[in-house]
Amino acid sequence: MYQQSKHFDLIFISLVTYFGFSQTCLLFFAQLSQGQLRVVPTIANAKVYYFGNRSFSALKFFNRSNEAVYPIWNTIAGGNSSPTWTSEIEGIYNIADSPDVVFDNDLTTEYTNCGSCSSGSSSMLITCGENTGWYLSLGNRFFSLVAFYIGTNTKYPQRDPLTITIEGSNLQRDELIFGWSWTLIYNDSTGLVSNPGRSTFGVLQIIPQFPLPYANYRVLITSKRGIDTCTSYTEFMMIGY
Ligand SMILES: *[C@@H]1O[C@H](CO)[C@@H](O)[C@H](O)[C@H]1NC(C)=O
Ligand SMILES: *[C@@H]1O[C@H](CO)[C@@H](O)[C@H](O)[C@H]1NC(C)=O
Ligand SMILES: *[C@@H]1O[C@H](CO)[C@@H](O)[C@H](O)[C@H]1NC(C)=O
Repeated sequence: MYQQSKHFDLIFISLVTYFGFSQTCLLFFAQLSQGQLRVVPTIANAKVYYFGNRSFSALKFFNRSNEAVYPIWNTIAGGNSSPTWTSEIEGIYNIADSPDVVFDNDLTTEYTNCGSCSSGSSSMLITCGENTGWYLSLGNRFFSLVAFYIGTNTKYPQRDPLTITIEGSNLQRDELIFGWSWTLIYNDSTGLVSNPGRSTFGVLQIIPQFPLPYANYRVLITSKRGIDTCTSYTEFMMIGY
């Protein structure tokens, strides 16, 4: 199966093997820009994902229409969400562009959040922008996240997020601010560890567990590349079904 989008090429290859009565699918992802697809033998350090008896043609990119995306800061996985749209403390140093732009398929519009730092150059720290992010509510829809790409910001490599947490929830809107409503599904690299350049997608990252359907996703930046006032990125492209 082969899918193409405006900004990059992605190839999905699937093999179906049978072990006894259960059916197992081995799925290999590769970006065409990486030159060639390597078929990894399972005796090597391969990542093997079991998707049940499901057609891979069901894998899709998530396209946002009017689903709400809420900016948050001062939040860690498992912890309560702190909204950035209320200036709860006068003079708290945070700015937040709208996080909607991470779903607009445009590698020139970016989401910037400084967390507890000022956007002025007087407070430049490696930690600025950590523990910031957003959560997405799909309403009554569900999406099972299989993999994702992050798009780099337009100007500042030092603002690139390097590690993130991703959590899912199926609770109701008012409960989503509480940490207990979220389940951690990913705590690892953004795929930007090696700087791919500006306004560019990083390396495809795969969720290392069986994809469950969630109606809400929360993404938090846990580290960034360098010393700067904020973290900033253009896209969060979700692949799943
Ligand atoms: C998997 O699904 C296909 C299509 O629905 C069906 O024909 C096939 O029997 C299923 N295989 C197993 C092992 O359940
Ligand atoms: C998102 O849009 C792309 C391109 O139009 C399409 O191929 C894909 O099926 C859409 N995804 C969903 C979940 O509808
Ligand atoms: C995420 O991983 C880091 C590094 O391994 C670890 O220190 C941290 O506790 C993890 N976070 C959660 C919420 O599990």
